Amino acid sequence: MQDLHNKRIVLGMSGGIACYKSADLVRRLVERGAHVDVVMTDAATRFITPVTMQAVSGHPVYTDQWDARIANNMPHIDVSRGADAILVAPASADFMAKLVHGRADDLLSLLCLARACPLLVAPAMNREMWLAAPTQRNVAQLRADGVSILGPGNGQQACGETGDGRMLEPMECVTELIAFFQPKPLKGKRVLITAGPTIEAIDPVRVITNRSSGKTGYALARAAWEAGAQVTLISGPTALDQPYGVTRTVVDSAQQMHDAVMAHVAQQDLFISVAAVADWRVANASSEKLKKDGKGAPNIEFAPNPDILATVAAMPNGPWCVGFAAETENLAQYAEEKRKRKGIAMLVGNLAQHVMDADHTTVSIFDDAGEHRLATSSKQDVARQLIEAIATRMPAVIR
Ligand code: C5P
Repeated sequence: MQDLHNKRIVLGMSGGIACYKSADLVRRLVERGAHVDVVMTDAATRFITPVTMQAVSGHPVYTDQWDARIANNMPHIDVSRGADAILVAPASADFMAKLVHGRADDLLSLLCLARACPLLVAPAMNREMWLAAPTQRNVAQLRADGVSILGPGNGQQACGETGDGRMLEPMECVTELIAFFQPKPLKGKRVLITAGPTIEAIDPVRVITNRSSGKTGYALARAAWEAGAQVTLISGPTALDQPYGVTRTVVDSAQQMHDAVMAHVAQQDLFISVAAVADWRVANASSEKLKKDGKGAPNIEFAPNPDILATVAAMPNGPWCVGFAAETENLAQYAEEKRKRKGIAMLVGNLAQHVMDADHTTVSIFDDAGEHRLATSSKQDVARQLIEAIATRMPAVIR
């Protein structure tokens, strides 16, 4: 997806072994439509060559404040002026210290000081260097100066130690950068989302389930996080990775999903119920595998599952609720009936047969004003539009 289409990014690299990740980072940025200009400190060029960075970015690399290729010989002004953001990845402890003090004795620090665009840094260093008091003071000062700090990650370090200080992985940096450019209508809000199917056991090896890839719910979780929310995702079994920045609990049955939602619902501002919850569970589920003993098919009895959305919608002081409905026909009629029955202000409906498992979807929003259809687009793009629509419909002060 061209999430960074038309964005001009200056990728600054200071010295650190994490420079090896920056080559992949540039490729991922370019794949998403960004124009990337790479600026390297002298130390960075000891870890990876400008030739590599030129090859992956498709543009000449800048390493020197004295650069005769630039007509006015002012690369620090020229390179930063057209940029939408500067991302320094990796950002060494020394480079962050320079930023704090406004030092400008090489091209990258000059460029950061002379910038007219946002600055993001992805720290990369040994855990003791990260925890050191001067580094922590510098990080706090950079935040206070409006610089975005990405990560750092936690784990095994090149030096053999384990802890905080790893540079985020390339795709995590890309996800952070894409989110940085998104509007923040849910800043500070807490959002609970259900996604995926539930599975209801017949016996320990057989289940009844609903068809659901979980893609729409996961896309909404990501879009809500991008919009500034703190997101908790309660997911049935899916093949999808945990969305970056989102807290996820995985459950099997509708009853487990209900219990997980109830455990998390307090203090939530918004509940988006996307999960394809099984309407019935097997009342006479067997604790042992049913055998084909020649007596014919087993007699399965059903009992209704709790309606999670209706329960949350009926809570006094509960979160603002959004429901989903996948129908095979009469979408407008069924969606509107469902919205009224569940007692919710907004419901998102789609025709199930066209979007199951697909990466694109066509949805309509149903609310008191009627039906509002969104153009067919990728599930991530639709999710961003839905989050925007939800944010404009939510009451201004939720709690
Ligand atoms: O009741 P129905 O399945 O037609 O409505 C769909 C909406 O209700 C979806 O938002 C779904 O997540 C939610 N739902 C629920 N608990 C159920 C059944 C559906 O939360 N047991």
